[in-house]
Amino acid sequence: MKKYTEISDIDNVSKIIEEVIQLKKDPFQYSALGKHKTLVMLFFNSSLRTRLSTEKAAKNLGMEVMILNVNDAWNLEFEDGTIMNMDKAEHIKDAAQVISQYADVIAVRAFPTLKNKEKDESEYVLNSFTKYASVPVINMESAVAHPLQALTDAITIEEHKAKERPKVVLSWAPHPKALPQAVANSFVEMMQKLDVDFSMTHPKGYELNPDITKGVPISNDQEAALKDADFVYVKNWSSYKDYGTILSQDTCWMTTKEKLGDAKFMHCLPVRRNVVVEDAVLDSEQSLVIQEANNRTYAAQVVLKRILEQL
Ligand code: CP
Repeated sequence: MKKYTEISDIDNVSKIIEEVIQLKKDPFQYSALGKHKTLVMLFFNSSLRTRLSTEKAAKNLGMEVMILNVNDAWNLEFEDGTIMNMDKAEHIKDAAQVISQYADVIAVRAFPTLKNKEKDESEYVLNSFTKYASVPVINMESAVAHPLQALTDAITIEEHKAKERPKVVLSWAPHPKALPQAVANSFVEMMQKLDVDFSMTHPKGYELNPDITKGVPISNDQEAALKDADFVYVKNWSSYKDYGTILSQDTCWMTTKEKLGDAKFMHCLPVRRNVVVEDAVLDSEQSLVIQEANNRTYAAQVVLKRILEQL
C-alpha cells in the first residue's frame, strides 16, 4: 500500500479484514517491521480515538511516533502563488517537505470548514500533503472521508455478524452541532464493498452526496428502515445540499432500545448520550461501540503494516 487516503486504496476488503483478524491474535508479531521508522501525526482538529489508537498501532509495529497539533505551529498557507503578507507564516509546500525529513509516514486529520463546499470537496489540506510530502500519507479524517473508521466498522461487522449477509442500516441522528459528512460517506462506501444488505434512513434534506449513495436504498421512515436490522450504524451529519446547515434536531430520530429491536448498535464515537442514542442502548450488550473503538488500533495497524512493507 502506497498511501491510505481513501477506501479505494484497499485493493481487496475481505483480504484486509482477514489480515486484521490474524493481526489481532498477536498484535506484536510484526514489532520489528517499524524499527527506526517514524510516524508523524498532524492534527488540525481534536481527536481521542484516532490519536491514541494510531499511536498504539504504530508502537505495536515498533515505530517511533511524533505528534503535532498543527494549530500550535505556524499558520499554514495552502494557496499557490500567494503573496504571503498577511497572517499565514508558512506555505504547505515547504512545511510538507520539511515534515517529510522527519517522518517515514505522515498521518493527517483535517476536518471541513462546512462553509465552502467546493473548497472542502477539493480536500485541499489532505491533498496538499499527498502532493508535497515525499512519504506516504494516511487520512485520519479529512473533509469528506474517514477511511480508517470505515475499515474499523467493516472489521467490527465481520466479527459480530451472525449470518452470512446481515442487514446493515445507517441511521441519521439529531445533534446540536453541525457535523461533517465524512464518517457517513466512508461508511456508505465501505458497505458497498461488503456482502451486506445495506440501506440508509434520514430525514428529508439530509441526502449525502448522490455520487456516493448511488444505488443505496434510502428511506425517510426510520421505523420501517430499522425493521429486522442486524446492525444499526447511527451517525449525525449536517446537510450536504444546504451545505453545513442543521435542518432538523427532531428528537424522534434518537435511537432507542425499542427501535433497535435485536440489532447490534454501532457508532464511531464520540456520542452525545440521550441526544443521538439513549443510555439504555449504549449501556446494553447490544452496543458494539467499545469493541469498535478497540478495532481502531488494528485498522490503523494493518494500514501501517502494509505501508511499511512497501517502503
Ligand atoms: N471516531 C473517531 O474518529 O474518534 P476521534 O474523533 O476521537 O478520533
